[in-house]
Amino acid sequence: MANVIEVEDLHFRYRDGTEALKGLSLSIQEGSRVAILGPNGAGKSTLLLHLNGLYLPARGKVRVLGREITPQTEKWVKSKVGLVFQDPDDQVFSSSVWEDVSFGPLNMNLSPEQVKARVENALRAVQMEEYKNKAPYHLSYGQKKRVAIAGVLAMEPEIIVLDEPMGYLDPRSKENLLDILSRLHRRKITIVIATHDVDLAAEWADRVIVIKNGRTLAEGDASLLTDERLVREADLRFPVVVEIFRRLPELNLFPLPKTVEEAVRAIKALQAKEPDQRCLN
Ligand SMILES: Nc1ncnc2c1ncn2[C@@H]1O[C@H](COP(=O)(O)OP(=O)(O)OP(=O)(O)O)[C@@H](O)[C@H]1O
Ligand SMILES: [Mg+2]
Repeated sequence: MANVIEVEDLHFRYRDGTEALKGLSLSIQEGSRVAILGPNGAGKSTLLLHLNGLYLPARGKVRVLGREITPQTEKWVKSKVGLVFQDPDDQVFSSSVWEDVSFGPLNMNLSPEQVKARVENALRAVQMEEYKNKAPYHLSYGQKKRVAIAGVLAMEPEIIVLDEPMGYLDPRSKENLLDILSRLHRRKITIVIATHDVDLAAEWADRVIVIKNGRTLAEGDASLLTDERLVREADLRFPVVVEIFRRLPELNLFPLPKTVEEAVRAIKALQAKEPDQRCLN
């Protein structure tokens, strides 16, 4: 699979002198589901703001679909990478929900019918159709978050980047967003999320990137979340499923289950086997 995003030795310093990124490198493959984890202040949001050209590298490179992000490609990259900000108040600013979600498509040379269809589809996807005439500042925080997500969906980008997408969503809306992400994944859209939710990362991601202190600490599949040294170093915790099986070393399971599905399979396998043959593989 081709890399759709390549970040190489990325440095970024805020105006007040904070060095948020200190030589960060990573790559993201086409069609993958990537979870970026790391403690508060690690540089996750700063990194994501570089992925669609909102911030330009002070040093180092960001390449999207093979093209380096520069002032010349900045506009192009915004049509390829949709970014949902951590805080919807930074993203949702129009006087009505409809206006807000149509903002992107209206700037894409689409016909009025195409714009209408995209906005309707996007609002339906996040179950916000009935709020289309409402002022975003009268919405709850979670509803605003859903409008921000709809605004990005309406652009139909090839890569969708979401910063803490589950923050403030109720359990049903979280499930709904996971369904949307699964549908996008089936359409070969690459999805990158920054999150503190290790359970979500274990269940959902096929690639995990851990960052700390402005640098990449580890890249790999979700089994990284069973690595005790890494979990401690990155101030994470184990996913609940992993934690349960870590406390049952007598089961002799390797690799440790990390999703509910893997846990159920492991328990069924244990039920079916003799005690002295208890092993997953
Ligand atoms: N606008 C800004 N001006 C100055 N410093 C900033 C700004 N935004 C972020 N920083 C600093 O840059 C560093 C990285 O912040 P960033 O928001 O990227 O971290 P994060 O990993 O997204 O954290 P969180 O998990 O809390 O969302 C932190 O030290 C933060 O204080
Ligand atoms: Mg952040």
